[in-house]
Amino acid sequence: MVAPTPYIGLSDSHKSTMIAQTLGGNVLAKLPVVRKLGALRRSLARYRNRRETIALVPTMGALHAGHLALVRLAKRRAKRVVVSIFVNPAQFAPHEDFSTYPRTFAADLAALTALKVDLVWVPSAAEMYPEGFATKVIAGGPASTGLEDAFRPHFFGGVATVVAKLFSQVAPDIAIFGQKDYQQLKVITAMARDLDMPVKVIGAPTMREKDGLAMSSRNAYLSAAERAAAPTLHRILKESAAQIKAGKPIAATLTASRAAIERAGFEIDYLEARHAETLALVASVKDGPLRLLVAAKIGKTRLIDNIAV
Ligand code: PAJ
Repeated sequence: MVAPTPYIGLSDSHKSTMIAQTLGGNVLAKLPVVRKLGALRRSLARYRNRRETIALVPTMGALHAGHLALVRLAKRRAKRVVVSIFVNPAQFAPHEDFSTYPRTFAADLAALTALKVDLVWVPSAAEMYPEGFATKVIAGGPASTGLEDAFRPHFFGGVATVVAKLFSQVAPDIAIFGQKDYQQLKVITAMARDLDMPVKVIGAPTMREKDGLAMSSRNAYLSAAERAAAPTLHRILKESAAQIKAGKPIAATLTASRAAIERAGFEIDYLEARHAETLALVASVKDGPLRLLVAAKIGKTRLIDNIAV
């Protein structure tokens, strides 16, 4: 559950709550924070009546520059931008980090206010999954390719279901997702296509720290030593992609790269070359376009990354 903030408290009101964020002492524009579906529909109807296009950027909060790049792209592509913040319990297994997932609501609102987002949709778990909730989206295709799905079997069911609900709640013209979660982007693209959802799913490039580490809310878990080792993941991906492009056989490249990642202190879940669209297995570059995808744990933190070949 998202912690209440001093700005809004626990709003049970069916109206949107107008808040004024201050940043560096300056009062910025007011940002409507909407917590109830009825209020969301009323706000969005105003945009739709004026034939304004709507972009949705779904997030779980703990916003960093990667999320904010999605928001900036959304602003360029639509008149109105809705950002959802919902730490979705359905996509975490019981042993995973739902309860400790970073929650930085006040800072998130300040960042979204500065970017002049139109509306923030912050449903509670009870609003998203009311008593008696019983319907799930079963994602196939890219969701059953033995990558994230092999290590987090509950994950894409939870993601597909909540994103289908967000699409239905907001009815956006476009929705922006990061390539950082590459399999997730492909799963959502396939779901929208297969279920005839009238939304254009757009993938945005991965934002990285200066040393190459992909930005992630979970980077906050890293100790100083782990943080120092973490950029290895991107460096090895880059080197592997260059070698495969230069003609080195995929299997031999990946074997050497796995060893290099392990030497840096990671425990690998997978490092694979896949077809960039279907995520199917590939034997050579001729089966391409290719994408390299990796998931690995350093200490207790599981990181994922990917790169085009
Ligand atoms: P979350 O991890 O908060 O990510 C929200 C969006 O930000 C996703 O589309 C993700 O791919 C994108 N993102 C994260 N890090 C990024 C980076 N370094 N560069 C570019 N984009 C980045 O992904 C989820 O939330 C959830 O699964 C969600 C889709 C909201 C469903 O609950």
